[in-house]
Amino acid sequence: MNKSFLSLILAVAGWAVFHFGLFPIFTPAEPGMLINRYVYFLLFCFYLIIVNVGMKLKPAMALRALYVWMLGFYFYDHILSPHVPWTLFITYMMLWTIGTFLYISQDPVTFREFRAPIVKTIIGEYKLARIVAFSVLPVLVGWATYQSIYPSFAEPVELRTVHPAPPASTKVHGKTYMLEKISNPFRIDEQDNYKDSFPFLDADKQEYMKFVTEGGTIFFQNCHYCHGDQLNGLGMFAHAFNPTPANFIDPGTIAMLQESFLFWRVSKGGPGLPNESTPWSSAMPPWEEHLTTDEIWKVILFEYWYTGWHPRTFDDESAVGE
Ligand code: HEC
Repeated sequence: MNKSFLSLILAVAGWAVFHFGLFPIFTPAEPGMLINRYVYFLLFCFYLIIVNVGMKLKPAMALRALYVWMLGFYFYDHILSPHVPWTLFITYMMLWTIGTFLYISQDPVTFREFRAPIVKTIIGEYKLARIVAFSVLPVLVGWATYQSIYPSFAEPVELRTVHPAPPASTKVHGKTYMLEKISNPFRIDEQDNYKDSFPFLDADKQEYMKFVTEGGTIFFQNCHYCHGDQLNGLGMFAHAFNPTPANFIDPGTIAMLQESFLFWRVSKGGPGLPNESTPWSSAMPPWEEHLTTDEIWKVILFEYWYTGWHPRTFDDESAVGE
C-alpha cells in the first residue's frame, strides 16, 4: 500500500479514536494536572509523530502540511477553552495558514514536493483522487454556502423582559401622562356590573357597552390579525412573529397589568420598548401613530371586557392574578 495513504488512514482513524474515545475522558468537570484537554492535544500530536516516524511512513509534503494545518484548526476550534470568538478564530487560522505555507515554501525542493501531488491530481495522473476531488469539492462548497446563507431562527441567547418596568410618564399625541396617576376614562364599571351584557347587542342601552363595542370594532379592525379573534394571540399573522403576539386570555398578560401599562405599551408598541426587552424586536406596532388616545383606551376596555379579566390597580394589589 502507498505509504502516504497508510499514513492518512492512520491519522484519520487515530483522530477518531482520540476524539470520540479519549477526549471525553480528558475533559472532566474538574480538570487535573494530567487529565486536561491540552495534555490530550499533546498526546494526539505525539501519536501522529510516533506513527509516522516510527513506521517510517514519510508522508508526502502536502499531507504533512495538511496535518499541521488540521492540528491548528482542531486546536483553535475544539481544544482551546473557553472557545474564542469566530473573528479571532479566523485571525488565528490565517496566521496559522501563513505559517504552514512559509514552512512549505522555505526552499524550492520542499515546495515542489508539496505541489507535486496537487498538480498530478489536477492533470489527471491520480485519476481516483481527481474524480473524488472534483466531485466532492463542489458539493462541499455548495453545502458550506447553503449553511452560511440559510437563515437562522434560533432565539438570541440574551434573556428578555416580557413586561419591562414602565417609565414614570409617557407622551402620547403631545400630551404627557403620568402612568401612576391615569386610569381608563371609559371604565365606568369598576364593579364589573356589565359582565352579562354584550357589545353590539347592548350598545344602545348602556353607555358602558357602547364604549366596549367601539373598542371591539377597533380591535377587529386593527388587532385581531395578530392577537387573534378570540384574543388568544393566535391571529392569522401570529406565527410569523417572535416574540409571538400576547395572548390576552393567559393570566400572565393583561390580567396582571395595569391599564396605564397597557396604554403605554399599545401607544408605543415594539419600537418603544426599553432596552431590557430587546434584542428581540417585538412586531407590536406603535398604535399612537394610527389611533386616537380615546380609541386606545376603548380597545383596552374591550380587551378586558372580552377576557373577563379585571385590570390590576395601583391601590389594590390583591387583584394580581385574579
Ligand atoms: C403586527 C402584529 C400585531 C398587531 C397588529 C397588534 N399587536 Fe399587540 N402585540 C404584538 C406582539 C408581537 C406583542 C408581544 C410583544 C412583546 O412580548 O414584547 C404584542 C403585545 C401587546 C400587548 C402587551 C401585552 C403584555 O402582556 O405586555 C398589548 C396590550 C397589545 N399587544 C395590544 C394590542 C392592541 C390593542 C392592538 C390593536 C390596536 C395590537 N396589539 C395589535 C403584535 C401585534
